Amino acid sequence: MFTAVDTVSEEAMFIIKCLFIDNMAKVSWRPGTMVYPLPAALVTCGADREEWNMLTVAWTGTICSDPAMCYISVRPERHSYPIIRDRMEFTINLTTADMAKATDWAGVRSGKNYDKWKETGLTPIPGEKVASPTIEESPLSIECRVKSIVSLGSHDMFIAEVLNVRADDKYIDPETGRFSLESSGIMAYSHGNYYELGKLIGKFGFSVQKRK
Ligand SMILES: Cc1cc2nc3c(=O)[nH]c(=O)nc-3n(C[C@H](O)[C@H](O)[C@H](O)COP(=O)(O)O)c2cc1C
Repeated sequence: MFTAVDTVSEEAMFIIKCLFIDNMAKVSWRPGTMVYPLPAALVTCGADREEWNMLTVAWTGTICSDPAMCYISVRPERHSYPIIRDRMEFTINLTTADMAKATDWAGVRSGKNYDKWKETGLTPIPGEKVASPTIEESPLSIECRVKSIVSLGSHDMFIAEVLNVRADDKYIDPETGRFSLESSGIMAYSHGNYYELGKLIGKFGFSVQKRK
C-alpha cells in the first residue's frame, strides 16, 4: 500500500520544512551570554574616599540562600578589579530608572581616568560592615566579603558572602514593615537595553495558591 512516508526523500523533506519555515519559531545561535534580564548593578569598592570607585556590573546574582551568597564577574583589566581583589570586599548597589544615566556612564568610563562620584553626582556613604561605600541613591545595597575568586576566561568570578543588606527606609511601609522594591523604579538590563520594571503579574507561589 502507498504511504507518504515511504516515498518522501530526505531532499523532499527539506523542501517541505522550508515551505513551513514561517512556522519554525526557533533559531540556533552560537553559544553566547543570553541569560536576561539581569540587574545593571553599581558595584562599589575601595578602602577610603581616595580609592572608592564604582563600576556597572550585569554579570551578578545570588548563588546561595544560607549562607546568603552572591557573585560578580569582573574583567581583570577593569580599574576596580585589583581593588576588589586586594580588599576582598565590594557592595552591590541596585539601581533605579533615576540612576540609569549614571549607571550607564559608570559602565563606559573608568575610575582610572575619572572620579565617578563627581561625574555621576551619586553620593557615597560609608559602608557598615565593609569599607566599600554604599550609594545613597540606591534603594538596596548588599555588602559582600569575597570568599573565592574563580578565573573563568574573559571574567573572574568573585564569590562572596553577604555581610549586610542596607535598605532605603523610603521604600519600607511603616505599618507593615514591607520593603517595596518595585515602587523604587528598579531597573533591569536585557540584551543591551535598560528597563524600569513594570506590571506585576503574580507573586511567589501564586500558581498553587487556593482562592479565599
Ligand atoms: C550595562 C553594563 C553591564 C556591565 N557589566 C559588566 C560586568 O558584568 N563585568 C565587567 O567586568 N564589566 C562590566 N561592564 C563594563 C564596566 O562597567 C566598565 O568597563 C567600567 O568602565 C569599568 O570601570 P572601572 O575601570 O572604573 O572599574 C558593564 C557595563 C555596562 C554598561
